[in-house]
Amino acid sequence: MKILVTGGAGFIGSHTVVELQNAGHEPVILDNLYNASSKVVGRIEAITGRSVPFYQADIRDEDALREVFRKEAPEAVIHFAGLKAVGESVRKPWEYYENNIGGTLHLLKIMKENGCRNIIFSSSATVYGDPAFVPITEECPKGTCTNPYGWTKWMQEQILTDLHTADPEWNVILLRYFNPIGAHESGTMGENPNGIPNNLMPYITQVAIGRLEKLHVFGNDYDTPDGTGVRDYIHVVDLARGHVKALKKLAPGSGVNIYNLGTGQGYSVLDIVKNFEAATGLNIPYVIDPRRAGDIATCYCDASKAERELGWKAEYGIRRMCEDSWRWQKNNPNGYDG
Ligand code: NAD
Ligand code: UD1
Repeated sequence: MKILVTGGAGFIGSHTVVELQNAGHEPVILDNLYNASSKVVGRIEAITGRSVPFYQADIRDEDALREVFRKEAPEAVIHFAGLKAVGESVRKPWEYYENNIGGTLHLLKIMKENGCRNIIFSSSATVYGDPAFVPITEECPKGTCTNPYGWTKWMQEQILTDLHTADPEWNVILLRYFNPIGAHESGTMGENPNGIPNNLMPYITQVAIGRLEKLHVFGNDYDTPDGTGVRDYIHVVDLARGHVKALKKLAPGSGVNIYNLGTGQGYSVLDIVKNFEAATGLNIPYVIDPRRAGDIATCYCDASKAERELGWKAEYGIRRMCEDSWRWQKNNPNGYDG
């Protein structure tokens, strides 16, 4: 199937393009390179041995989108493009609403114009807010988000749902990711954060490589086994494969379907440190700092719906996630810039 992958040069998008090609699909990348490098395209092609069309374009640029639809005529869209830094979204809410929500509205307009009504959307566990229960099932009510980034995901889900209500020809899959980490096993593709990382795993790998002095653990007084925050970390390649499985569900009349993509296993911050040390033989110095505003104690999912309905299940464990994250960081100390 010909699939337009918005944000396809980014962390999750690039790994998904590889898995789409491996499964025999024809992905087309559209990315404005705001948070990605054009070098990713060559890395993807080196892994799969197949070329991939790449358009440097913005989802807010309707003419550019029209041109891509005219040339490529995709049957479905996997929509990753967006801004994703939680702290930045608090400082720049307008930019987040304009890019994530505005961009999605333009994309949907051009899809409709071209008779393409199949979309898989990158949502997040953040829409559950402080979850009503764990493990989180898809029936868990959406909660109150603590930042504009989270609200953009919340609202984009609502926009896509309303679109289907008005026109049942839309087939929509909302994938709620838990905490993606890891990297491609080749060590040539991975996460490439700008500046000091906000997320745990890239922070740890940068301590390991010597770019940062020590990890700051945000709180050890949560109601969890060791007092540090518990999350559901998922290997990015497993996550990517979840998209390939989800494509099969985009059949006419399939409506709006929601899936959690996680492993169903919770690990604390200190579990991650220990596993990373065991996987790499390195020492990760850390200090305990106060809690980070907006953080919750525990977040992990019940991933059984995706297994039941999509035939998808995460395969890689925490050790493998740590090994692959480290291989990418070690081989590319400055990300795609060398
Ligand atoms: P990423 O920043 O690596 O990828 C997003 C890509 O979108 C980037 O390559 C960026 O250049 C591109 N982009 C941004 N705005 C654009 C625009 N207006 N037009 C065209 N391209 C644009 O992030 P990621 O980690 O790969 O995340 C992909 C998606 O998954 C995002 O929507 C993100 O919110 C969502 N998500 C990510 C996580 C996570 O932990 N990484 C968790 C839950 C959900
Ligand atoms: C964060 C975002 C969430 C987003 C998700 C995936 C917040 C509040 N939430 O989730 O919206 O969907 O990333 O990108 O930012 N930790 C440390 N030290 C660090 C970094 C993190 O102790 O330097 C701890 C955190 O307190 C948390 C765990 O590690 O307990 C994971 O943090 P992180 O990787 O930032 O992900 P989330 O907070 O789960």
